[in-house]
Amino acid sequence: MTASMPATILILNGPNLNLLGSREPDLYGSETLTDIEAACHDHAKGLGLTIDFRQSNNEGEMVNIIQEVRESAAGLIVNAGALTHTSVAILDALLALEQPVVEVHLSNLFRRENFRHHSFVSQAACGMICGFRSQGYLMALDALAHMLKEKSEA
Ligand code: DQA
Repeated sequence: MTASMPATILILNGPNLNLLGSREPDLYGSETLTDIEAACHDHAKGLGLTIDFRQSNNEGEMVNIIQEVRESAAGLIVNAGALTHTSVAILDALLALEQPVVEVHLSNLFRRENFRHHSFVSQAACGMICGFRSQGYLMALDALAHMLKEKSEA
């Protein structure tokens, strides 16, 4: 990558997040994943970043996408959906990254069932944003932009 190319942030969404808009809107809001992708594109542009926005319902495919980050992105934002609470394979793929990882959840996990209080993803993330619905993705972009700027100035 040359100095003039904007850094790419990969934004990865896990199982059932393709159903946003119609899936439990009281918890997750009424925006679709396409709406969130458009908002992330606009916000990233203002931060001088580009995004690569993905969704998969499949754990193995998510591991493959996380491995792509090693070559193709400056950072990762991940909402692993239910796999957050179960997947050691996703944790291991995240731990193999050198790039910063920010974890996002639309809902506030800590106001929900006990099984959602534990996150494997958190063990590999710089931080977690949850409970702010789609706004959380934009907050995560701000956090990554800040971290990347600090890193470039170090
Ligand atoms: C979620 C929270 C998870 O517990 C749940 O399984 C999801 C969505 C969120 O964004 O709030 O699929 O990751």
